[in-house]
Amino acid sequence: MQGKVVLVTGANGGLGTYVTQAFLDAGATVIGTSRRIQRSDFSSPSFTALPAEISSREGAHALVDQVAARFGKLDVLAHTVGGFAGGQSIADTDDVTFQRMLDLNLNSVFHVLRATIPPLRQTGKGRIIAIGSRAALEPGAGVGAYSASKTAMVSLIRTVALENKDAGLTANVILPGTMDTPTNRKAMPNADFSKWVRPSTVASLITWLAGDAGKDINGAAIPVYGSDV
Ligand SMILES: NC(=O)c1ccc[n+]([C@@H]2O[C@H](COP(=O)([O-])OP(=O)(O)OC[C@H]3O[C@@H](n4cnc5c(N)ncnc54)[C@H](OP(=O)(O)O)[C@@H]3O)[C@@H](O)[C@H]2O)c1
Repeated sequence: MQGKVVLVTGANGGLGTYVTQAFLDAGATVIGTSRRIQRSDFSSPSFTALPAEISSREGAHALVDQVAARFGKLDVLAHTVGGFAGGQSIADTDDVTFQRMLDLNLNSVFHVLRATIPPLRQTGKGRIIAIGSRAALEPGAGVGAYSASKTAMVSLIRTVALENKDAGLTANVILPGTMDTPTNRKAMPNADFSKWVRPSTVASLITWLAGDAGKDINGAAIPVYGSDV
């Protein structure tokens, strides 16, 4: 990853922290973004924090304009921004929850994709790796809004893969099951954490897809379910 410029969205999140550190460990220059990201979140001199709200077109474009101005190129987009809502049947899902799921899980990736595809195409071997969810393929009762937003996101990524293969750009989406994050441990303290997906596993897969060997994988939706299959 030496010489590569990587944009990690959700860089201070439960998964994004691992992804950012994995790219830094691999020698990349990493720009981490989220609404509250700070320079002090990572100690490496190769890390830059660019706070942004990416659920809007303006926020995503302003972010990518800053990346272009400061780094001159973009090689990899690792998109981890997303969020969960559950506990309501479709009949009971309120407008606010449905819109929040669309903003977090679908609009964010749409705006970031539109802003980053042009510079990623220019490199001739750009890489997009996005985080979907197991729920994108396997809907469950009470998680309809989340599931629908992630399914639509998978469709977007696979379309981007088809539309940009001429430029050597690959786009893939990883579908984790429940991950072993601090938030999940707090929310489900009696669960068997050993069955959950380790965020470090997902981070390794992302850096692998971003590397040279990743050129042979395009348009994939990759299940990573841990031992809870
Ligand atoms: N955790 C799981 O078990 C699990 C399972 C399957 C799939 N996933 C997916 O994996 C991804 C990461 O999950 P996670 O548990 O790491 O989530 P998380 O800890 O909640 O992290 C979400 C990240 O997104 C940022 N963010 C949220 N809204 C944003 C916005 N509008 N603009 C910019 N940044 C925004 C947050 O930072 P700020 O608050 O500073 O903006 C944070 O960095 C998500 O896409 C999630 O749906 C998670």
